Amino acid sequence: MTTNHNPIQHFQQWFYEVDKTHPQDEANAMLLSTIGVDGFPKSRIVLLKRFTWEGFIFFTNYNSEKGKAIAQNNKVAIAFNWAAAKKNVLIEGEAEKIAKNLSEGYFESRPEGSKLSAWASDQSKVVSSRKVLENQLKHYETKFKNQMIPKPEHWGGYIIRPNKFEFIEHHVKEGFSHNTKYKLQPDYNWFLSAKITLAQL
Ligand SMILES: Cc1cc2nc3c(=O)[nH]c(=O)nc-3n(C[C@H](O)[C@H](O)[C@H](O)COP(=O)(O)O)c2cc1C
Repeated sequence: MTTNHNPIQHFQQWFYEVDKTHPQDEANAMLLSTIGVDGFPKSRIVLLKRFTWEGFIFFTNYNSEKGKAIAQNNKVAIAFNWAAAKKNVLIEGEAEKIAKNLSEGYFESRPEGSKLSAWASDQSKVVSSRKVLENQLKHYETKFKNQMIPKPEHWGGYIIRPNKFEFIEHHVKEGFSHNTKYKLQPDYNWFLSAKITLAQL
């Protein structure tokens, strides 16, 4: 069944509801899976910072393992596990870097400590000791003392443009789960399908 109902609207409803009623779920924490340059999938937690009609935005180090993976294969999956609310949302889509000025705008809004860490930490690279990291932080503290800290070239956002959604609602007491799936069609309409499955929790 094609539908005018947009899954982003569905996501928005669930997101704000979970955020309000189950703050312990940390609604914006999501598991991001990429296909690594070694061909294996890898997942890690990142924070959803914005979502729009176009997709889901998070920020990271472009030189990180996930950055390298996306540069080679931009097909990704994200999963929200809202355990207290007994809801999951699984999304597949394609990631692309957002415009530099948008990353700069968001970087500007971050606390000074986070800005300095973006300069000091070479994400995904092994550092020989904590001391090395601390020295790097000190170096950038001195370098940018009394001046605006610019966004490092290697830091910025990605938007994940979705093409598949699965919304799962677990009715634990009743013993079933309710799954609603949306798939983007070539004509940009969403194909909707819903089913009820026996809970296997
Ligand atoms: C609660 C939580 C939130 C995180 N948020 C982010 C994030 O928004 N961006 C990010 O790059 N890493 C974030 N991380 C760190 C990542 O999980 C990961 O360790 C790091 O990005 C390196 O991943 P990679 O080597 O696979 O690229 C977060 C970790 C935790 C535990």
